[in-house]
Amino acid sequence: MAILLAGCVLPVVACDAMLVKRSTGEKLYREHCASCHGLDARGHTIRYMGHPRANLTDDDWKYGGGDSVAIQSVVLQGLVERHPSSLQRLQTKEVKEIANWVLQLRGESSP
Ligand code: HEC
Repeated sequence: MAILLAGCVLPVVACDAMLVKRSTGEKLYREHCASCHGLDARGHTIRYMGHPRANLTDDDWKYGGGDSVAIQSVVLQGLVERHPSSLQRLQTKEVKEIANWVLQLRGESSP
């Protein structure tokens, strides 16, 4: 059974890793933000389902106006108590890429 399962799951994971081209911003977002904010940044995660601030695609902001600079400040300055402190160790360049990806998810900038 385990072998059968591995036979089904591994190709899917391998294909995802090899065939899907993702920007640096998307990869970093998936690694550091998606567990709480969701793959589409709408906050639909088990942990934060329904939390109004976990949605990064609406126009409702508590910390700044949700533009690229505001998103970068939130992450790098540790403004959100529930953010893991490890986020503050990301490089400015990386957070800029992440913020760009969030704007793309909102349809506010092109790839
Ligand atoms: C451990 C869960 C968690 C992770 C990981 C996380 N966030 Fe958050 N984030 C939250 C929560 C919860 C809030 C809402 C906090 C509040 O209401 O005070 C929030 C708020 C925010 C806000 C402010 C929203 C507003 O309304 O002003 C931004 C921007 C944000 N996060 C971006 C990010 C980015 C970018 C990443 C990845 C680099 C990230 N977050 C990773 C849980 C998380």
